[in-house]
Amino acid sequence: MRINSRDDLTMAAEAAIAEMKSQTKRILICAGTGCLAGGSDRIFAKMKELTEGIEGVEIEFGPEVAHVGVKQSGCHGFCEMGPLVRIEPSNYLYIKVKEEDCEEIFRETILNDRPVERLMYELDGVKYKEQEAIPFYARQTRQVLKNCGHIDAENVQEYLAVGGYQALEKALFEMTPSEVVDVVLESNLRGRGGGGFQTGYKWKQVARQKETIRYVVCNGDEGDPGAFMDRSVMEGDPHKMLEGMIIAGYAVGAQEGYIYVRAEYPLAIKRLKVAIAQAEEVGLLGDNIMGSGYSFRLHINRGAGAFVCGEGSALTASIEGERGMPRTKPPRTVEQGLFGKPTVLNNVETYANVPMIITKGAEWFHSLGTETSPGTKAFALTGSVKNTGLIEVPMGTTLREIVYEIGGGVKGDVPLRQCRLADPPADV
Ligand SMILES: Cc1cc2nc3c(=O)[nH]c(=O)nc-3n(C[C@H](O)[C@H](O)[C@H](O)COP(=O)(O)O)c2cc1C
Ligand code: FES
Repeated sequence: MRINSRDDLTMAAEAAIAEMKSQTKRILICAGTGCLAGGSDRIFAKMKELTEGIEGVEIEFGPEVAHVGVKQSGCHGFCEMGPLVRIEPSNYLYIKVKEEDCEEIFRETILNDRPVERLMYELDGVKYKEQEAIPFYARQTRQVLKNCGHIDAENVQEYLAVGGYQALEKALFEMTPSEVVDVVLESNLRGRGGGGFQTGYKWKQVARQKETIRYVVCNGDEGDPGAFMDRSVMEGDPHKMLEGMIIAGYAVGAQEGYIYVRAEYPLAIKRLKVAIAQAEEVGLLGDNIMGSGYSFRLHINRGAGAFVCGEGSALTASIEGERGMPRTKPPRTVEQGLFGKPTVLNNVETYANVPMIITKGAEWFHSLGTETSPGTKAFALTGSVKNTGLIEVPMGTTLREIVYEIGGGVKGDVPLRQCRLADPPADV
């Protein structure tokens, strides 16, 4: 169905919610890069095969007729324990699942509503049935990553079912572009790409340029070693980032946007392509979005994996087909960026924050994090930490909380400082 108005969006969201609710059980198999490497695609195929046999049949545990949703989601975060399988509505999380475990999961949990305890996470003698109760998750504040692991990453309907594109609707139909800029300014959202520059201020500068051709660029280069926050957003909830970019386009008066992703992220590129195609097909991207009169197109550019291309001016040069080299400023990107035009350049996670800020407001955003840096931050926990994975915490959370309370401490229980030194001198 094509969405040509606000009413159409409401109807599409209602249909998507109804479909999600009609699923007597949802099996969410992690299809993030880590779990796929561990064989989660075989688990998905097996679960599909097992559940197709009971589709529409009355099942033993209740009066319902089985309609089991078997979905490939993005990264659930707890990559150390992958491949992960989450079952809703019980919210059971099964860890280190193998293809051979599928029949037991199907028989016990899908048909008989019973947990398979041997596949559940255990810490200090406690078995955790529900995903949300596991300390790794319980100590986090997942906002940007909220949908990752909970929805099918390749289905726009699932994004609509969890409130997707409502922020865009609000921006297009209830706010002027400058009101959108003002809310982002008030939220004090600071760039998540490292520099921490105020996003709203950047947008304001682009919006006030005389030049009317403007661009929105997303920095998905993510060159920092060990980091995979941006990759996980692009793989697990690509529409959230797209929605943020379209809102940015509307706010600054741009009609075109570019997503720069490193070529080493093939799954992220694939999911972004699927998301763009689906959003265009239903009228949430492209010409006359939702019948609002606003048009915006998105393109994907693959980077060849040079760390320096993550720097804004090197990145825009690379998109133009030039050598990826930073240039001296001024002129700044907001004045003369991509193709010499005023450009908003933000990071993946920065854009992914925008829909929530538009929907819930700047005040809500200030209720998270610190006074000078509100909101949350996603981190990739890699290296010698016990629980490696992807986490999200309020700004201001200490490294100690991240490493010890969420990460479970350093492997081998060595002190953190020693662990950071590859070959510690004798007096340390
Ligand atoms: C050498 C270098 C590499 C960078 N790499 C990245 C990167 O991989 N991803 C990113 O978002 N920002 C990176 N940045 C920062 C960008 O130049 C830019 O400030 C940022 O993408 C702006 O987005 P934000 O305001 O949303 O953070 C890098 C900067 C430098 C100097
Ligand atoms: S890739 Fe599966 S939990 Fe991260």
